[in-house]
Amino acid sequence: MNTPINVTIKNDKDVSYPIYIERNEISSLVETINKHTQNAKKLIIISKKVYSLYKKQLNFSDKEVLVLKDGEDQKNIKTYLKIIDTAKKLNLTRNDYIVAIGGGVLGDIAGFAAATYMRGIKYIQVPTTLLACVDSSVGGKTAIDIPNGKNYVGAFYQPEAVYINLNFLKTLDKKQLKSGFGEIIKYAFIENSCGLENDNALLLEFLIVNSDRILGLDFDFLEKIIRICLSLKISVVQNDEKEAGMRKVLNLGHTFAHALESITNYKRYTHGQAVIYGLMFIFNYAYENKYIDSTYYRLAFQLFEKYDCKPLRAWYFKPQIIKLMLADKKATSKINLVVPTDKRTVSVMEVENPNCLKFKTNFLLK
Ligand SMILES: NC(=O)c1ccc[n+]([C@@H]2O[C@H](COP(=O)([O-])OP(=O)(O)OC[C@H]3O[C@@H](n4cnc5c(N)ncnc54)[C@H](O)[C@@H]3O)[C@@H](O)[C@H]2O)c1
Repeated sequence: MNTPINVTIKNDKDVSYPIYIERNEISSLVETINKHTQNAKKLIIISKKVYSLYKKQLNFSDKEVLVLKDGEDQKNIKTYLKIIDTAKKLNLTRNDYIVAIGGGVLGDIAGFAAATYMRGIKYIQVPTTLLACVDSSVGGKTAIDIPNGKNYVGAFYQPEAVYINLNFLKTLDKKQLKSGFGEIIKYAFIENSCGLENDNALLLEFLIVNSDRILGLDFDFLEKIIRICLSLKISVVQNDEKEAGMRKVLNLGHTFAHALESITNYKRYTHGQAVIYGLMFIFNYAYENKYIDSTYYRLAFQLFEKYDCKPLRAWYFKPQIIKLMLADKKATSKINLVVPTDKRTVSVMEVENPNCLKFKTNFLLK
């Protein structure tokens, strides 16, 4: 095993856990997990798609495996209760484990079940999408959705370990890879606001210069990106686990993205795709309101183009989007927006009059 990246969350208990980034055979995961959990019982929660692709390699005992249907619409109370019910049937106690193998949807819901079953049971994240590797598997945000409220019910609850295996990424389709790039591009725009003490990683330039190698799934380049994104995320969450301040910067593009996901019933766009539209929205807002200059604005759109991110072509009725943005759980009576204010830098702002939000016509085409 490589030397892990260490996460230490400065909360009342000072939780600490390792993130391993490997390229071993997928089958080695069984031994890794068994070694980690030792004699404890475990419930392996795995996405149907991942299970169908890796059933042979992931040779866990059938009775400890729960396969869950895929899709954001599965991140609900019904699926949550199914997990709790299975954990109870297996007689899991607080000394036992939940292991989440899948993308961000599965990781979020399994994490929430772990946070709440018997008031908290140990859990391990095995992210299998690019988005989950760079973002959702780390930081301890767990949640389920309610109708019209994405991630409305949840808990901050850290995993005991995160095992990333790059080989999972080989079977992702183009749409899912692009979704991962949504969160990665977000990190490029918030780099200077993450409080990382060493030199800037310059993710923005790295993504532009090396787009061919990255999009060609060159593992050395992907691993570098994963490491940069995780170091930025860790830097933020270790000092602000519960989003009292700095963690808000991670929501760049997300207020709009959540509204768009909700208005389209979580079916039309992947989360990362919605984040890309949210980033385009906020860059237009920042430019029109003179928070950023035209050079940076153009650089941002050059980056979107490199990763084949086209403007949103559907028209969503503006008041409806604003209503949903106001309903975003991070907002008060005003809309909380994370706005680019300089290269790689953002500020959290409250928009006084939401109706003033401009929707640029080349962004939201009729
Ligand atoms: N907790 C957090 O901090 C955080 C951060 C960002 C996003 N999120 C959440 O993450 C979710 C999105 O996660 P996602 O983009 O991973 O989507 P996802 O979990 O829906 O996975 C996307 C699809 O890819 C499939 N898949 C997974 N691994 C695969 C593999 N190796 N090969 C082929 N197919 C594979 C899945 O089965 C699914 O069909 C959203 O619900 C979002 O809110 C959470």
